[in-house]
Amino acid sequence: MKKTILFSLTLLLLSACSSEQTPEKSTDTAIEHKLDTVKKAQKNVDALNATIDQINTETKAQTEVPNGATLYANKCASCHGKDAKKSALNNSAPIAGWESERLITVLNGYKDGSYGRKMKAIMQGQSKPLSDQEIELLSNYISSL
Ligand code: HEC
Repeated sequence: MKKTILFSLTLLLLSACSSEQTPEKSTDTAIEHKLDTVKKAQKNVDALNATIDQINTETKAQTEVPNGATLYANKCASCHGKDAKKSALNNSAPIAGWESERLITVLNGYKDGSYGRKMKAIMQGQSKPLSDQEIELLSNYISSL
């Protein structure tokens, strides 16, 4: 994609440089023609820049390593507290420092409905969207608190 655009841009620039004006053409027409070519080249450059921006965004999204601390801060801290030492909505134990195996079991239990007490619906909603990898990262992080 990027290569194709770079290639067509190069072709366009080359043709702009090599297109000699025939002597009988008026200078005005020649200038207009050149201006036109430059405008077209500019459009190509704009398109190329947009493509590069898009590639950069995609690359960034792909290389961003999911991280337990960030996941926790974004998805869990509002109820369980910054350090996981709070009782979430006054209905959970403080989960900081739990064995990560236990956290993994509990989170998967909320996910499949096999674990929980009266407010388990809330944690079902929280745990359903989590992937196995996210559950592992979160559990290791909470365990380290
Ligand atoms: C909207 C508030 C809220 C959010 C956000 C939330 N939780 Fe909970 N969490 C609760 C409640 C309430 C309980 C107790 C549920 C019950 O009755 O079983 C709970 C229970 C838990 C438990 C079990 C604790 C126990 O006492 O058995 C774990 C582990 C847990 N949450 C982890 C997480 C993780 C990890 C996240 C982020 C992905 C998260 N929670 C996000 C409210 C929340």
